[in-house]
Amino acid sequence: MSTQISKKKRIAVIPGDGIGKEVIPQAVNVIKASGAAVEMTDFDWGADRYLRDGTTVPPDGFATLARDFDAILVGAFGDPRVKTNIHAKEILLGMRFKMDLYANVRPVRLLDAALCPLKGVEPKDVDFVVVRENTEGVYTDAGGVFKQGTPDEIATQEDINTRKGVERIIRFAFEYCQTHTKLDGSPRSRVLMCDKSNAMTHAGGLWQRVFKEVSAEYSKIAAQHMYVDALCMQMVRDPRQFDVIVTNNMFGDIITDLAAGLQGGLGMAASGNIHPGRTSMFEPVHGSAPPIAGKNQANPFGAILTAAMMLRHLSFEKEANKIEKPVLEAVRQKKVTQDIGGSLGTREAGEWIVNAVAE
Ligand code: NAD
Ligand code: IPM
Ligand code: MN
Repeated sequence: MSTQISKKKRIAVIPGDGIGKEVIPQAVNVIKASGAAVEMTDFDWGADRYLRDGTTVPPDGFATLARDFDAILVGAFGDPRVKTNIHAKEILLGMRFKMDLYANVRPVRLLDAALCPLKGVEPKDVDFVVVRENTEGVYTDAGGVFKQGTPDEIATQEDINTRKGVERIIRFAFEYCQTHTKLDGSPRSRVLMCDKSNAMTHAGGLWQRVFKEVSAEYSKIAAQHMYVDALCMQMVRDPRQFDVIVTNNMFGDIITDLAAGLQGGLGMAASGNIHPGRTSMFEPVHGSAPPIAGKNQANPFGAILTAAMMLRHLSFEKEANKIEKPVLEAVRQKKVTQDIGGSLGTREAGEWIVNAVAE
């Protein structure tokens, strides 16, 4: 007879720093209320641990995550006491790079017209996704400083783009487009590559050539292009035109904060760091927000929507829906935190969702 194996999915929970330590417990409560068959294990990686014993990531840290867990739920890293930000680099960028989580998927969805700073924009008008390359670009931190502190100082910051890396992220975007629908159920149909190939000709040229090649394999999907500066303007002028956007690491970082603004701010934006078939990591788009940390002010919905995204990734579709519906309802009823026009605290907003999910 075979041994009974637990069917529960295993989730590593790393709240991290600042508001991460406030919003992640709310997301965890909501996951529990959803009834998803998961087992969650807490990790204390972050600034407190680093300041206490010098550890950023324990020696077998990433191997443990990859071997023993199905997914990772992360808050944020960044603490004013750690000026070098070394722990954030080693933990957050460490997970993305060393676990090769090459696709940073950042959905941009407006839940209610009241949350969007643009005039006359409805939820159906803002439903696109940014697929950000997550393991290369300027984030590799290749480069150096020479003659530091002299008038002749030189600093270089290299932008690394590999054929393999560019091809797999562009392909991921087309596959995502093919297999995902919009919130209203209509199919996705367009992939737009965003770059700066008019100025950054070497890297841009590689992206342009690969985009042309890969897009030719997907005849039913429209392939489009926009320079990143023009895209920023278009995103606030008419967000309706976007469907799937694929771009490099740094442009993806910047345009997803801009896009978060369309959704009601950083408190509303969710993301996943994905390598298909491997242990992937899910985190809200926002950071540790030191000015509001520890004050029960942070909006937990970005983290809660991230939890739903993670559950859907783990095939808990029903449980993910059970979480997303009350978030929408809370926004409509203004059972929300101050940043999006309510008067609830982090805990109270989280509890409202927990109660609604449990009903
Ligand atoms: P941030 O996202 O932490 O916050 C910017 C501002 O947005 C905050 O001051 C706050 O006014 C608002 N905000 C963000 N999240 C919110 C929420 N959930 N509810 C309500 N308001 C919210 O960006 P920052 O100030 O540029 O960075 C602070 C620290 O976080 C830095 O150390 C930075 O490196 C780090 N950071 C980490 C991550 C991450 O771990 N994924 C992401 C971004 C920034
Ligand atoms: C994000 C953050 C990180 C990034 C920082 C903290 C390194 O801004 O996740 O968007 O630039 O990727
Ligand atoms: Mn960012």
